[in-house]
Amino acid sequence: MTKTIFNPVRGMKDLYGIDLTKYQYIIDNALRIANKYGYKLIETPIVENTEVFQRSIGDETDVVAKEMYTFKDKGDESITLRPEGTAGVMRAIVSNNISVTKNNPLKLMYYGPMFRYDRPQKGRYRQFHQLGFENIGAMSPYTDALTIALAHEILTAVGIFDCQVYINSLGELSSREDYIKAIVKYFSIYEDKLSEESKIRLKKNPLRILDSKDNNDKEICSMAPKIYDYLSKNDIKYFECICDILDNYGIKYEIDNLLVRGLDYYSHTIFELKVNNGQYKDAIGGGGRYDRLLNILGGPDVSGIGFAIGMERLMMLLDDNKFKLKENIISVIPVSENENESAFELYKNILSYDIRAEFVHIGNNLSKKVEIASKLDSNILLIIGNDEVKDNTVTVTYMNKTEEEGRNTVINRNNIINFLKYN
Ligand code: HAM
Repeated sequence: MTKTIFNPVRGMKDLYGIDLTKYQYIIDNALRIANKYGYKLIETPIVENTEVFQRSIGDETDVVAKEMYTFKDKGDESITLRPEGTAGVMRAIVSNNISVTKNNPLKLMYYGPMFRYDRPQKGRYRQFHQLGFENIGAMSPYTDALTIALAHEILTAVGIFDCQVYINSLGELSSREDYIKAIVKYFSIYEDKLSEESKIRLKKNPLRILDSKDNNDKEICSMAPKIYDYLSKNDIKYFECICDILDNYGIKYEIDNLLVRGLDYYSHTIFELKVNNGQYKDAIGGGGRYDRLLNILGGPDVSGIGFAIGMERLMMLLDDNKFKLKENIISVIPVSENENESAFELYKNILSYDIRAEFVHIGNNLSKKVEIASKLDSNILLIIGNDEVKDNTVTVTYMNKTEEEGRNTVINRNNIINFLKYN
């Protein structure tokens, strides 16, 4: 047996305890808000035929070129663990013939695990979870602004008050092609000075040089041609309109001309959400408009816009203390085996009122049982010994009180449910 079987696969982790509570809290809030905006839940398989991602995300992107978990199944088909949710949702619309037109948009929400063979580090995993939204059909600045507002609202609802929206426009395809030509020309002048990664990107995916984290590259990028100068009049009008609606909404945003995003399917509006309090520098969420994605996968020629929030990154920003259980955890403890039956009756009665409780009857003596209850995070013990059975009472012990504060109190067993409910 090798040691590795005792650990999850590198870059993957188990989700339990406070983290799972946070996860569910975010999802509950997202479902509530999504309902208000008319989104319906969709679940797609975790694996797709590899081509679904190659066609939509783009062969030259890091995600497709380097990060996909792709393998042959037993039928020799190439399948891939989904690296993101948008492509699978588009494929599902086509496979299930779900109706979507310009006038009848489709709003879908999803969440679940995604897989990228990335270098694991803080906030970056090989299995991570996304909460995603896609609004397909309508193309209007209102739709774009509302999508950004939705992302902002979800983060605010779970307690991220200093979230900053960064927004940019990649324009329509022809504007972007002209822009790419211009930056290839510009970066070629500085090719020798670019980082190794950017040299490769210059050949394969030049837009992504603008996203480089290398300081030298960043300096070269700061003087590069700006996308804004290559946008058509319509593109500019559309983008300015989104900004006006966001202003009207009171959502603070910053226009970031260097924002490009890592997936090839974007056009027009793109955006990312970050926290600017120094807690974490990478994006918590990001998204944008995609003009041809559904069509590329065999669906109607309609545009869509969406975003995804990285659950692990968001969970990391939420304060653990807020998620520690505040409800009472009650342990019913018989002092010895003789009181098991009587204590079990009490325990069943408590459960029938939907009150959370544990029946701590294993352990050689009372102090061992108290220790077990304490490990279960119990704050109230209901102890039943010989005297309590005889007198029809229960000894209540508050684990976090001292003797002076009234750690122990004896109450009549008939009053126990009212006592637990209103204490
Ligand atoms: P993305 O920017 O690649 O977009 O991912 C969205 C979010 O997922 C990121 O902002 C980040 O929080 C999280 N994320 C990405 N990779 C990792 C990782 N390795 N570990 C932890 N978290 C990660 C998309 O995936 C698009 N599908 C979003 C979209 C939806 N665009 C339009 N519709």
